[in-house]
Amino acid sequence: MHVFRALCPPLSFVFDIDGVLLRGPNVIPAAKRALGILDGDNPFRMKIPYVFLTNGGGVAETERCRKLSKQLGVKVETSQYCQAHTILKKFAGQYFDTPVLVLGGHLDTVRQVANSYGYQKAYTTLDVLAWNPAVWPFHTLTDAEKRVAQVAELLAMLPLLLTNALACRLFKDSDIRDVCLSRSEKLGSRRFGLMSSSELVPADLQTNHVVQVMCDVILSGGIIGGPHLPVAKQEAPVELVFCNPDLLWKSDFTRPRLGQGSFKSAFQAVFRALTGSEYPYTQFGKPTKATYDFASLLLGERVRQLYGDVPLSQNVYMVGDNPESDIAGANTAGWSSILVKTGVYDPLDGVPSHSPSHVAEDVEEAVKKALDHLI
Ligand code: G3P
Ligand code: MG
Repeated sequence: MHVFRALCPPLSFVFDIDGVLLRGPNVIPAAKRALGILDGDNPFRMKIPYVFLTNGGGVAETERCRKLSKQLGVKVETSQYCQAHTILKKFAGQYFDTPVLVLGGHLDTVRQVANSYGYQKAYTTLDVLAWNPAVWPFHTLTDAEKRVAQVAELLAMLPLLLTNALACRLFKDSDIRDVCLSRSEKLGSRRFGLMSSSELVPADLQTNHVVQVMCDVILSGGIIGGPHLPVAKQEAPVELVFCNPDLLWKSDFTRPRLGQGSFKSAFQAVFRALTGSEYPYTQFGKPTKATYDFASLLLGERVRQLYGDVPLSQNVYMVGDNPESDIAGANTAGWSSILVKTGVYDPLDGVPSHSPSHVAEDVEEAVKKALDHLI
């Protein structure tokens, strides 16, 4: 009787992207060699499963995977790719037909991402500015911004309040329209909630425009132009969601760059100056447990895609460049963590803030160390 030993990969990898595989638009040379080893050129003579987990984003997963495939010279499937806001797909069902305000990105990309997740009524700060330029008098919409702004839809949108459980309590049309129409007659107001994409520092608008809209929405309990109420006195405070906590990340400049975590700090500093305290928010992205749990499911799916219904090996290796997001998250997830020196982490800065299982010069050495560790 032939006993077929089910092929079960002895290990798998989760790769961070910026600072590990890429620096800005440039591919780190070791990246292609590392993936080549896992795609078959290894002592196990098998395809070692791997997925990509990044705090980047701002474009659709399909678009990012198309670009990554070209850069890395391997086919990157969307099923093996998780970016900062991919996890928001999980909540789209609750917001299928109700509007959310998505912040960040360039022109209309972040709306398109939200639509692709199932948020059919996603609005941007450009829509708000096109609806009422007085919201931020320091910016005149460019022709390109005017073309993508959806003012009519915004005016017709069903307003909502995001209650603090990310559930969406939608007033009956008449209630909210009455409230909004009466207020809009007086105050020019609209009611909605907030969600932020990963690339929150918009390429084409000053950051403080976004902070202005956030403060308007939050301080008026979901209505721009509505009366500002102390949050403690609001019936249903707006839910604020951030998708990328990175204070720093590695692009192609010599020193790490400020990421969305710096924007969050800027917003909270303004909010604290206005109200005396910071505003509560929900955080996704590495190193949050929600994001690592989501990535673990993705990895299990990838193993099944390659090998059928076999269990995910306990030997999961996370390769990252940022101790705060990659090493911290992997350690909490119970994975092995390998910190590379090609990104945010610089040995000259001393001991990393979170201790990795291993340190490697680059991603190729990281893969070789993991394989050697198993053989
Ligand atoms: O915006 C991207 C940056 O925050 C980090 O990306 O790939 O190092 O998680 P990554
Ligand atoms: Mg990185």
